Parts: sequence; structure tokens; C-alpha cells
Amino acid sequence: MSKANKKLFIKTWGCQMNVYDSRRMADVLRPLGYEEVDGPEDADMIIMNTCHIREKATDKVFSEIGRLREHKKAKEQKGGRMLMAVAGCVAQAEGDFILERAPEIDMVFGPQTYHELPEMVLKASGMIGRPRIVNTDFPPESKFDLLPEENASQGVCAFLSVQEGCDKFCTFCVVPYTRGSEFSRSIKEIMEEAKILIEAGAKEITLLGQNVNAYHGEGLNGGQADLADVIYEISKFPEIERIRYSTSHPRDMDDHLIEAHGEIEKLMPFLHLPVQSGSDKILKSMNRKHGRDLFFEIIEKLRASRKDIVFSSDFIVGFPGETQQDHEDTLDLVRRTNFASAYSFKYSPRPGTPAANMQGLIREDIKSERLQELQALINEQQYAYNQTCLGQILPVLLDRKGHKTGQLMGRSPYNHSVHVTAPDRLLNQIVDIRITHAAPNSLSGEVVLVEDMPEAAE
Ligand code: 5AD
Ligand code: SF4
Repeated sequence: MSKANKKLFIKTWGCQMNVYDSRRMADVLRPLGYEEVDGPEDADMIIMNTCHIREKATDKVFSEIGRLREHKKAKEQKGGRMLMAVAGCVAQAEGDFILERAPEIDMVFGPQTYHELPEMVLKASGMIGRPRIVNTDFPPESKFDLLPEENASQGVCAFLSVQEGCDKFCTFCVVPYTRGSEFSRSIKEIMEEAKILIEAGAKEITLLGQNVNAYHGEGLNGGQADLADVIYEISKFPEIERIRYSTSHPRDMDDHLIEAHGEIEKLMPFLHLPVQSGSDKILKSMNRKHGRDLFFEIIEKLRASRKDIVFSSDFIVGFPGETQQDHEDTLDLVRRTNFASAYSFKYSPRPGTPAANMQGLIREDIKSERLQELQALINEQQYAYNQTCLGQILPVLLDRKGHKTGQLMGRSPYNHSVHVTAPDRLLNQIVDIRITHAAPNSLSGEVVLVEDMPEAAE
């Protein structure tokens, strides 16, 4: 296959694991001459990296295929060829069905097989074997052993996948079925990838996993390591100034990890810790393997370990059997915890999961009411928290240009999105920003002491 520049457009839905996977797909395809572009027009390959976690995921993919099909037709009319692929969790779950229903799709592959993309591309281009491919196995080898070393498509804020899959089987969730069972990479492998990310300019690393704090990989001395060990190792790189991890389960928040929050300055004081519900009865029915008291205990311990830590979470309202009292218990948990932000969703049955067969379905209008009530409370807490930042000086890692000219954007240690008017030379730097405005979803401010900032290439 020629190395001439080919245009690759990847559209990504869903979690940060998918964002990571999309970047790695670009790494796999780069040696074949594919360079990522920002839009589907005239692309040589389009990959839709999909998410299956919530309702109507498959319908959304089919309507996106419908939209993108026009670009494929336009390219063919000009005598060109465009490969179209569906990847990710919808691909894993729907496999053949996608090929049957969407004749323009050339490749369907799951999250565990994208290291085989070069071979799939050869097949789909008609060079070898069968032209349309479904590749949704869980292969015996780990894709991490076979992905190219290069992981240079990330910038100053990089993702590093340390763990994949989930063995928890919460009754509402498709992840254990689409991503497979838990797997942890060795610390050695993680450190090697970290070095490559650092060479490509990383100052912040987010360790990723569906159940990241269930991490139990091989340690540097052969024994078993936990997530705190990984964080300690990563924190030794002087170039890495910030470490985050996502997504965690309360059950796996062990004392070693809690302690790490107090000891490692580079570990950012923001934790996304999904709890889903504040009702013991619903938590049990969700198979979350803990009650509300454990959640409160963890929050308390973490606050004792790192005074300024703030929390975010995920909630599901209207789970089967949820009474008004159960909902009140969720609101109570939110009031008692005081979140910096949180996501909340109406329960939607996912085919194949145990909850999809449960009795006691909640009416849609009641779900909507409960969602509104919960979101109003969370928004209130988030806004109040943002207001407390007014006048403070926060170190912000400016990793992007803003929407307005002359504006840069980045994240505070507490994961606020912060906008500031600043010269481009401050891009990719951690800059002290005095917060002058607190909006419900973001902060803005002004640069403090620009003259002391290191010079950076424009
Ligand atoms: N219905 C509604 N929300 C869900 N989530 C996962 N599965 C479902 C479902 N069936 C939410 C959970 C999870 C987040 C990523 O998506 O809150 O933490
Ligand atoms: Fe899904 Fe539960 Fe596993 Fe999270 S812990 S990925 S919600 S099954």
C-alpha cells in the first residue's frame, strides 16, 4: 500500500477510553499513510468510534451513517474511494447487523481488535480476502502488545490506558459485555508509554480504565501492583506535573489510593466517583456491591487525606423499583456530599443486561421530574462552588485555543474549564490565573505576572 497522504476522519462518541482508542487507531493507521483531518469531506477513511452505554445508541449510529454516506457517494462520483468503519462498543454489540443494514460500511470492529486495522484495511480495499469485515472477537492476545510504540497524537494533556474492561456487572450496564473482563497492563509497559507521551510534550497524564481503581497489574519487581503504585511511578517523571485517573468505583477506593491523594502533590484534587444512587435498596438492586455509608466513609477519608479535594459523580434516576423515598435518599446523598459537578441520566434498559428484565418500571414523566430535581440541585452546588473560586489564583494548564480570538482555555486542578485572554506563547503552560468571573459551567480570569512566565514557542 502506498504511503501517499490519505485523509482519515475519526468521529468519537462516549467516554475517554473511546477518545484514547481513537488516538491509538490514528497511530496504527499512520504508517499506512493516513493523516487525521477535522472533517469527513473527501476523506479516504471514516471511522465512527461509538458508545453503547445509553439509549438509542444504535439508532444514532445509523443516522450518522446516513449523513456520512453522502460524503462517500461524493467521493465515488469523483472516481475516489472512501472506506467507512464502525468501531467501538456499538460495533462490538451489533456486529453483523450493521453490515446487513448499512451496505456502505466496509469494516466493523470492536475495542479489542483495532490493532488489526492494517490487515482489515487491506481486506476492505479488496487487496486480500473478503471485502467486508466484522471483527468483534475478544482475541487471546492483548492489543497493547501489538499496537505501535508511537503514541504521539496526544499533546500536553495525554491519556494513558492502564486498565480495561469490567467484572462488576452492575445490572444496568453493558460495559462488561462490550469491553470484556478486567485486564491490567504491567507498570513497565505503562512507564514505556508514559515516556513516549512525555517526548510528545505531555505535562498531564490521565490514567484511564473502565474500572481504573480496580487496576492490579504486574509491578516493577514482579509482584502485583495497584493503582496507587502506578501513580507513584508516574509522579517520578519531572516533566509530568499533573496526574488524574478515571473512572473509579467506590468499592475499589482502597486506603493506599486514598493515602496517595494526600502524599502526591501532582495527583489533582478532583475525583470522579460514580455512585449512581443514594438508596441502599437501589444500590443493591444495581449490584453496586456497597451501600451509601461506604460512599460517605470514602468521601470523608479522602477529604481528610487531601483537604481541598472536590468530587464529581454519575447518577441514574428512575431505576426499576425506585420509589419517591429512594429518590429522596439520592438527593440527600448529594446534599451531604456537596459535589463540584455531576452527571445524571434517566435509566434506560440496555438489552441483555439483568435490569432490562426487572419489574417496577418507572414512568417516563416521573423519571423526567426526578432528573430535573436532581440536576437542579447539582447545578446549584456546582454554581455555588464555582463562586467560591472568585478572586482566587488557580494554576491553569492552558491546552487549547478558546473560541474567541486571543483567548486560551484550560483546566484548573479542580477540573474547572477556565477561559482567559492570553498570548499564544502561554499555550501548553501552567499559568496562574486570577478568577474574575464564575459562570455555572466555567470560570474566567486574567493572567497573573505574565513577565515571570517561561517563554514558549508561538
Ligand atoms: N441507563 C442510564 N444510565 C446509564 N449509565 C450506564 N448505563 C446506563 C443505563 N442503562 C450511566 C451510569 C454510568 C455512566 C457512564 O452512564 O451513570 O456511570
Ligand atoms: Fe458498568 Fe458497573 Fe462496570 Fe462501571 S462498574 S463499567 S457501571 S458494570
